[in-house]
Amino acid sequence: MSQGFNALAEKRRTIYALGPALPLAEDDVIALIQTAIRNSPSAFNSQSSRALILLGEQHKHFWSLTKEQLRKRVPADAFAATDKKIDSFAAAAGSVLFFEDQQVVSELQQQFAAYADNFPVWSEQSSGIAQYAVWLALAEKGIGANLQHYNPLVDDDVRQTWNIPASWTLRAQMNFGSVEAPAGEKGYIDDKQRFIVAR
Ligand SMILES: Cc1cc2nc3c(=O)[nH]c(=O)nc-3n(C[C@H](O)[C@H](O)[C@H](O)COP(=O)(O)O)c2cc1C
Repeated sequence: MSQGFNALAEKRRTIYALGPALPLAEDDVIALIQTAIRNSPSAFNSQSSRALILLGEQHKHFWSLTKEQLRKRVPADAFAATDKKIDSFAAAAGSVLFFEDQQVVSELQQQFAAYADNFPVWSEQSSGIAQYAVWLALAEKGIGANLQHYNPLVDDDVRQTWNIPASWTLRAQMNFGSVEAPAGEKGYIDDKQRFIVAR
């Protein structure tokens, strides 16, 4: 039985069946998400990660905007499955939209020209770390989550609706809420394929 960090890491799973109930007050969930992102490491402590935290009707509005963009692109006879999937996301309590501020990235590229090619990569890595930190923080409180990628389809709608700065690029969307059904089975590749240990 794992303990400590690895027990929490095992608890964090992709939960698709999410509901609107939260075990904490909304303000506490917001603070939990903000703290997880604030404490996430970033290259040169650049803190390039940004987040839009949506709750309740604002969260539902995001998924309704996403659905309308998908309706324009998914063939009508295949739309029922998409419709159902988006409704399942909207049924959650809220979502965190993760962005990376490209102004931070380009300023670093100018300031440290020798690393110019690395900064966009490090920005993506920082975003992944921030996403994982939030996912773990939510899991620790018993809040389920799943991670989606409807960018760039929804970028313009999000920018206009929530007045997002032009330099922020949307990287991922994380739904969160009550766990209405457990995560599915998860397989693991053989450790021999994955790890080399030398000592
Ligand atoms: C970088 C990344 C991108 C992902 N993108 C999606 C996605 O677009 N839609 C989705 O439903 N799950 C997405 N996932 C969730 C993975 O499918 C999931 O983490 C994986 O199957 C392992 O399951 P677990 O999260 O329960 O451990 C993503 C996960 C990662 C790390």
